[in-house]
Amino acid sequence: MLKKNFFSRLRRLISSPSLIAYHLKKMTLEKWWRRIKYELDWSKPYYPKSIILLPTARCNLNCISCNIGLRNLEKSVKQAFEKKKEIGIDEWRSIVDKISFFNPMISVSGGEPFLYPGTINLIEYIKKKGLYCSVSTNATTLKKSDIQRIVDSGLDMLTVSIDGIGEVHDQIRGMKGTFEKAVSKLGKIIAYKKELKRSYPILHINCVMSPLNQGRLEDVAEFFTNFGVDSLNFSHIWFYNQEMVELQNTLYSNTLFEIKETLGGKFGAEKQGERNLGELWNKISAIKEKYKGFNISFLPDLKSFEELEIYYQSPITPISNDAKCYAPWKAIEIYSNGDAEFSGACFHIYVGNFLKQSFNDVWNSDSYISIRKKMKEVGAFPICSRCCYIFQEL
Ligand SMILES: C[S@@+](CC[C@H](N)C(=O)[O-])C[C@H]1O[C@@H](n2cnc3c(N)ncnc32)[C@H](O)[C@@H]1O
Ligand code: SF4
Ligand code: SF4
Repeated sequence: MLKKNFFSRLRRLISSPSLIAYHLKKMTLEKWWRRIKYELDWSKPYYPKSIILLPTARCNLNCISCNIGLRNLEKSVKQAFEKKKEIGIDEWRSIVDKISFFNPMISVSGGEPFLYPGTINLIEYIKKKGLYCSVSTNATTLKKSDIQRIVDSGLDMLTVSIDGIGEVHDQIRGMKGTFEKAVSKLGKIIAYKKELKRSYPILHINCVMSPLNQGRLEDVAEFFTNFGVDSLNFSHIWFYNQEMVELQNTLYSNTLFEIKETLGGKFGAEKQGERNLGELWNKISAIKEKYKGFNISFLPDLKSFEELEIYYQSPITPISNDAKCYAPWKAIEIYSNGDAEFSGACFHIYVGNFLKQSFNDVWNSDSYISIRKKMKEVGAFPICSRCCYIFQEL
């Protein structure tokens, strides 16, 4: 089984130049080089590893863990997402042209990216340029012709977000029938890949753990280890609470890093019931043990029950004492109107616009440089300890 996995991964690796580039980027030497530059405080750093394209803020679902799905966004987030118009596909192509020279890995997300009518054209264009491309989707809106074009495009990875089996998924996603729809599209992608004898796109499932699914996580592992997808990730929820916001504002009021308004961490999932941490820990441990041969990850991969308790019961406490945010050195998000923002769990700080400026002018804008300086000085803010970026390397 392991041997078979190894050879199929090797086959996939050598069949895609963009994947080879991706793995080369992960090499240790490159990591050391980035580290040295970071430590030496280069304010104009090397180019980012990833560019995140958000062609639309619209979504057809109402997921309880997601700011967008909750529709009761804070004003700052709302402005970052909803007030931006959607540019056309030619404008997106011109942005891809501006960033392709340093061979970044491109992720397309949203909102629901396939609600934007040009998303498949955009993927096709990114792949034509020879760049690594991944997409995250709820997979409910894809048509048969979309599926064929996505596979034909050479897309490297498709992440489908599934939070449970059947009604569990539907309840979390806020709409009946979404599990059936998503799984049926996924099945069609697998069948079309088989027909073409293709291993791409790699099919990845992302499941956010919440009080509504924590008792049924093994169902997700059982279902997808037998379904023909390549990997499965269980994600803890990213959030912040009132205590973190208050400390943030005490320390950083009147700066770019002040939080103007907050939902106080009241993500929907938190309202739907208490987490039973003992049960959650048992389920995580059981999945790790039972599905060792399959590509299953947990993000963050909390190493003990104590860490799990700290994660949920004392969110202001960092999981690792030397946790730092490297986001402004490694990524940039481009919104539906071409605006570039430094944004994580909490901040939405405008750093430029890719339609009006060159890549270098945005990436090394005064505002992005001042964010890097501050970030380097503090390492991480109080608001950061349950943001996805704090668990990533440089
Ligand atoms: C924001 S969605 C955008 C793309 C697409 N609509 C989808 O659902 O995949 C990207 C991923 O973030 C996950 N997500 C949303 N809110 C989250 C949160 N508070 N914590 C952890 N993951 C979250 C979703 O489940 C999804 O897998
Ligand atoms: S489908 Fe994606 S963007 Fe839409 S509400 Fe759910 S997680 Fe958020
Ligand atoms: S870790 Fe903190 S600074 Fe970095 S992206 Fe997340 S919230 Fe923003």
